[in-house]
Parts: sequence; structure tokens; C-alpha cells
Amino acid sequence: MPTLHVTTRSGEESTVEVGDGLTVMEAIRDNGFDELLALCGGCCSCATCHVHVDPAFKDKLPAMSEDEDDLLDSSEDRDENSRLSCQIPFTADLDGLKVRIAEED
Ligand code: FES
Repeated sequence: MPTLHVTTRSGEESTVEVGDGLTVMEAIRDNGFDELLALCGGCCSCATCHVHVDPAFKDKLPAMSEDEDDLLDSSEDRDENSRLSCQIPFTADLDGLKVRIAEED
């Protein structure tokens, strides 16, 4: 199974296996990282699934929608590697992806 590396806000690193058809948000949430709130359940309307993505994977990620861009603008922790994890389907291409959970706003 493809793997995803998750770093928590406190800097703790873990590796999780990701089943077919999940988004990065679902993979994080389903593995018990409750600091990723994902309050809207993946509807791209809350920004509580904000992560920083390893720049090495940037070209493999789906393009950012205007809604995602607008929501990320509401976060003080936004940087050039920010994405909403519910907007990233975890495809085989992303095996080994590293993400860090963004600070809470
Ligand atoms: S879970 Fe709400 S925007 Fe991603």
C-alpha cells in the first residue's frame, strides 16, 4: 500500500498506509491525527485540513481551485507549500508524500 508521512504540529513524524480512493485529509483523519479537524468533511469550506506539502511533490498535486486558494488566504500559516488536504486525492503517484499539519488559526 502507498505510504504517507505525516508531521504533527509538535514535530512528531509518522508513516501511514493509504487505502484506495482516499484523500490526504481522510488518510490523516482516519489514522487518528485529531489535530487535523477537517470540520467540513472535505467540502472545501473550512480550511481546518490545511497542510504544508513537501515541495518535491508539488508537480504531482492537482491544480488548486479558486475556492481552495481563497480559503487558504484566511490562514496566517499559509506559505507556498500550503494545500487543503481534502482537495488532494491520494493517487499512486503520491506514494511517499510528506505533509506537515499547519498551525491552528
Ligand atoms: S475539510 Fe474542510 S476544507 Fe478540507
